[in-house]
Amino acid sequence: MKYTFIAAVVAAFASSVSAADAVSGAAEGFAKGVTGGGSATPVYPSTTTELINYLKDSSARVIVLTKTFDFTGTEGTTTSSGCAPWGTASGCQLAINKDDWCTNYEPNAAKVSSITYDTAGVLGMTIGSNKSLIGQGSKGVIKGKGVRIVSGAKNIIIQNVRFTDINPEYVWGGDAITLNGADLVWIDHVTTDLIARQHIVLGNSASNRVTISNCEINGATAWSATCDGHHYWGLYFTGSNDMVTLKDNYIHHTSGRSPKVGGNTLLHAVNNYFYANTGHAFEVDTGGKVVAEGNVFQNVVAAMQSGLAGQIYASASSTTNTQCKTYLGHNCELNAYGSSGALTGTDTSILSLFSGKNVASADTATTAKNVVNTAGYGKL
Ligand SMILES: *[C@@H]1O[C@H](CO)[C@@H](O)[C@H](O)[C@H]1NC(C)=O
Repeated sequence: MKYTFIAAVVAAFASSVSAADAVSGAAEGFAKGVTGGGSATPVYPSTTTELINYLKDSSARVIVLTKTFDFTGTEGTTTSSGCAPWGTASGCQLAINKDDWCTNYEPNAAKVSSITYDTAGVLGMTIGSNKSLIGQGSKGVIKGKGVRIVSGAKNIIIQNVRFTDINPEYVWGGDAITLNGADLVWIDHVTTDLIARQHIVLGNSASNRVTISNCEINGATAWSATCDGHHYWGLYFTGSNDMVTLKDNYIHHTSGRSPKVGGNTLLHAVNNYFYANTGHAFEVDTGGKVVAEGNVFQNVVAAMQSGLAGQIYASASSTTNTQCKTYLGHNCELNAYGSSGALTGTDTSILSLFSGKNVASADTATTAKNVVNTAGYGKL
């Protein structure tokens, strides 16, 4: 009798709060030490409004998603003018004339008199400091709205969540994950797909220490700025004082900005798998400092955009790679290429910037090929 009673209580408890409703593992690289909501008792939002409120309030929180939160329609629709900078064929993205973008930047583009888009997608939910946003199993899906970590928010973990279907037809219809003025952010096992603009954007304010790991950036789309089923607006890192670890991510079916790096950003790109890119992967311009090692480029037309002013150490020679050891703590791993253009750069002057920092370890590019099986939400 007594035994039966205890078993029933345990079963009831397990159905609402399972041990899995906690952050799994720990951040490696620049955001090492991030704790998010720490040991706060998990909360389980049931409505989109509850999710918004848990994310933005000033309490440390572990917020667990147990279903799809569909924001489409929650703020109605907006109709505005737009333009067709890449043509009006069916596979092309159109652009919303946001802040007169069409007028100011694409004056020669064909005008589109009326675009109706979902209002909720345009601006993401604000995440306050000390939060973990995690999905349960493969249930954690946020549809039609992204998130924003801005204005000094600090110590945030997003893990095992999919962001999808944010006005994918229309540029300026919304980003999935925005950082702009932050510190200690870990984005792990996140999937992004069918996004209007950037999948992940670190804007011009300092976002300091960031680790993006085990994510799937899925650019496959029927509405592309390159009109070829591949999304142009992938990853955008232009913060004024940013250190970004990009490790073990699967970045595929993009056609540009995968990533774009500038501002004053030190990027450690390690063991990522870049696949099926019809344009360029790395766009590294003035102020961008990239050490890329142990990555795989498969069917990537240009691993880098040429002729730009960014600084790159592309780890191309096992002889010189020993120079990494002094500052990164290991010899850099070679990148690997299959039917792809090469990533080149021999700027060893940026290696010393890793001195005294938390630096991610590196596996071989051969090992990194397994990222296709492990990256994204629902795979913890
Ligand atoms: C976040 O947690 C830290 C450490 O407990 C605390 O000092 C800080 O005030 C918290 N931030 C907010 C906005 O609550």
